[in-house]
Amino acid sequence: MAVDREIEIAPGIFFPAWTYNGRVPGPTIRCAEGDRIRLHFTNHGSMPHTIHFHGIHPFNMDGVAGAGPGEIGIGQSFTYEFDAEPFGCHLYHCHAVPLKRHVHKGLYGAFIVDPLEGRKPMRELMMIMNGFDTNFDKENEVYAVNSVGFEYQRRMIPIKVGEKVRVYLINLTEFDPINSFHLHAEFFDYYDHGTTLEPTHRRIDTIMQCQAQRGFLEFSFRWPGKYMFHAHQSEFAEPGWMAHFNVVEEQDFPAALAAVGLDPRWDRQATQGSTVSRGRVIR
Ligand code: CU
Ligand code: CU
Repeated sequence: MAVDREIEIAPGIFFPAWTYNGRVPGPTIRCAEGDRIRLHFTNHGSMPHTIHFHGIHPFNMDGVAGAGPGEIGIGQSFTYEFDAEPFGCHLYHCHAVPLKRHVHKGLYGAFIVDPLEGRKPMRELMMIMNGFDTNFDKENEVYAVNSVGFEYQRRMIPIKVGEKVRVYLINLTEFDPINSFHLHAEFFDYYDHGTTLEPTHRRIDTIMQCQAQRGFLEFSFRWPGKYMFHAHQSEFAEPGWMAHFNVVEEQDFPAALAAVGLDPRWDRQATQGSTVSRGRVIR
């Protein structure tokens, strides 16, 4: 559902967001290629909204004005239904006009379609690069991954020495045409759009994405330490888009989890890879 909600984008800084299910980004929708997606959408917000999926689907499921039901009015409902293809790292977002405003306010999320053969299980993380215009001047004042500026500096992401990590990366920053991800002290393989089984880029340490571009990175760290990652545009990094991985030895991992308030169950969720539970209902 769509609902208006204030979200905290940095300690003490609130933003009047428009959300899917009360959160920004909205819930990640994950399935295997060919699965039928049936999404019951109700608009409890204060404006007409839609859900526009990137992927292959019939015109009447495209979630834009003039296609199928078009914009879903306040209090109205619609069920989007289509078969998920192609496999890859995709996204969904509101496509009501003015588009820039509806996306910027927070109506977006990840849509991950796994290949039928699955992908190699590894620690998986979802990072949506976004920004917030807190004074309505059509420029972002706060930049982040997953909405909260500097959050992963305050709570560094624990990973283990030598383990493979997959980061799903999606650029949903409005106002600025590009964003980027730079990893310190290591190189990664990159799969643009996630629509291939082999990397499209090998051994790089920076990737640039235009708006709505996405893909995933795979890498591992050789030595323990606190490794930075950030936008390689200082004007995005300094207002919030800076973060750290806390790379630790196996025996130190439970303590690293506890230090940032993560339950040991997070470890299992993050490493189960592309095991998809079919027919799961996300409310
Ligand atoms: Cu909208
Ligand atoms: Cu789009």
